[in-house]
Amino acid sequence: MNKIIDLLGDNMIKIGGNRIVFVFKYIPYIIKIPNLKYGFKLGMESNKQEYKYSKLKREDLCEVKFNLFNILILMDKADVISNNISWLEFQNYIENKYRYDNMSSFMLEDIKPSNWGILNGKLVKIDYGKIK
Ligand SMILES: Nc1ncnc2c1ncn2[C@@H]1O[C@H](COP(=O)(O)OP(=O)(O)O)[C@@H](O)[C@H]1O
Ligand SMILES: [Mg+2]
Repeated sequence: MNKIIDLLGDNMIKIGGNRIVFVFKYIPYIIKIPNLKYGFKLGMESNKQEYKYSKLKREDLCEVKFNLFNILILMDKADVISNNISWLEFQNYIENKYRYDNMSSFMLEDIKPSNWGILNGKLVKIDYGKIK
């Protein structure tokens, strides 16, 4: 019984602006589906965009492994950066890092800690979908 509770307990559902994200404890992937209530269209477009840009194989874009009609994408699971850190310092850091990048404006969209994560010791963008 404890094992079942343990299994359920550490799985998480995150409600983003456009998508609902399922994070599973023992699986190194997450699932994003459009948030039916608020962002169905944007959620589909965001899934589509992440699938498309992921194909560039940039090591700082968390990789999308699978796309089911833009309704569901499977992405590598990262350790999400906490929104409790200084947003200003984080934004300055990211702005400096990507100032001369060839995809600068794309990488600098919607900078907030919770749209970034750490995967294999590297900082990766985990939300590079469409913004409202
Ligand atoms: N690759 C990922 N690994 C771990 N958690 C993630 C990942 N992608 C998203 N999340 C979690 O889900 C939340 C919402 O996902 P996000 O892509 O930002 O959705 P939205 O487009 O709705 O803002 C994130 O803030 C983060 O907490
Ligand atoms: Mg987001």
